[in-house]
Amino acid sequence: MSNQEINSKFDQSKHTVVYHGNCLDLLKQVPDESMQLIVTSPPYNIGKEYEKKMDIEQYLEQQTAVISECVRTLKQTGSICWQVGNYVNKGEIIPLDIVLHPIFRNLSLKMRNRIIWNFEHGLHCSKRFSGRYETIIWYTKSEKYVYNLDPVRVPQKYPGKKYFKGPKAGQYSCNPLGKNPGDLWVIPNVKNNHIEKTIHPCQFPVELIERLVLSMTNEGDWVFDPFLGTGTAVIAAIKNNRRSAGAELKKKYIEIAHERIQQAMAGTLRTRPMGRPVYDPVRAGNSLTIAPWENKKTTPHRMVSG
Ligand SMILES: C[S@@+](CC[C@H](N)C(=O)[O-])C[C@H]1O[C@@H](n2cnc3c(N)ncnc32)[C@H](O)[C@@H]1O
Repeated sequence: MSNQEINSKFDQSKHTVVYHGNCLDLLKQVPDESMQLIVTSPPYNIGKEYEKKMDIEQYLEQQTAVISECVRTLKQTGSICWQVGNYVNKGEIIPLDIVLHPIFRNLSLKMRNRIIWNFEHGLHCSKRFSGRYETIIWYTKSEKYVYNLDPVRVPQKYPGKKYFKGPKAGQYSCNPLGKNPGDLWVIPNVKNNHIEKTIHPCQFPVELIERLVLSMTNEGDWVFDPFLGTGTAVIAAIKNNRRSAGAELKKKYIEIAHERIQQAMAGTLRTRPMGRPVYDPVRAGNSLTIAPWENKKTTPHRMVSG
């Protein structure tokens, strides 16, 4: 697709739409059953700079309004992926996927996976274990949904494994295209040293969304993100020849989204490639992995991962 234009209003004949305003206003412009994938990370109601903390019931009412509109615009073969973490109130956590699930169920959506997105970096907690995962809850509108496994397969642990008995004895037992990536995804989150980092506090890594775009849509399909932030879902769509639309309330994030999307269109945006192994400082021989208080000669039990 050669379209290099960013449109500010929804138009099904266009390729890329970035709406500055409330997602409910953009959703009103989107026809019924036209979106193939709706993927987002909504505000978590934890008092980040882009949200006002409210009581959880009011938050869920607002989420219900957006989710209902998203379901209206979703194709029969389409998917909705809601990426969430915890709502935290005075140290008590409420995992948002638990409280959002009934909303999706009441709209007759079918859950296909609860994907655990595991990352290594984040706040260190002192009164509970530090949070190192969030979830992506994936729902479809019907039983007949798009799911392309081949573009998102990952290398097997033992690709050289062969059948040792039966009619296929001696033949390789693995799919040469790789294996199903499973529902536990280890992908670095966008912190300060990440190549994609902007000033936004909660950016998606592009590779996380690319995996969803590739497996749940086909070329030319529409991808929609109601809470677009810095434009990551649109970028993942452009990289893979899909159409895309999203809304963002804050001007400063819209400006960043525009800049990144233009770079993605020009092929100059630097992103962490899908499938790159997570950096392992021990394997990389980083000297900072040796604690100064450790005696190198007498401490034989230092862990080497993998
Ligand atoms: C968790 S962030 C999403 C970040 C995004 N995934 C990215 O990669 O940059 C949620 C975003 O939703 C925006 N937002 C909050 N309420 C909104 C609304 N009603 N309509 C549109 N955007 C909204 C916030 O300003 C914030 O940037």
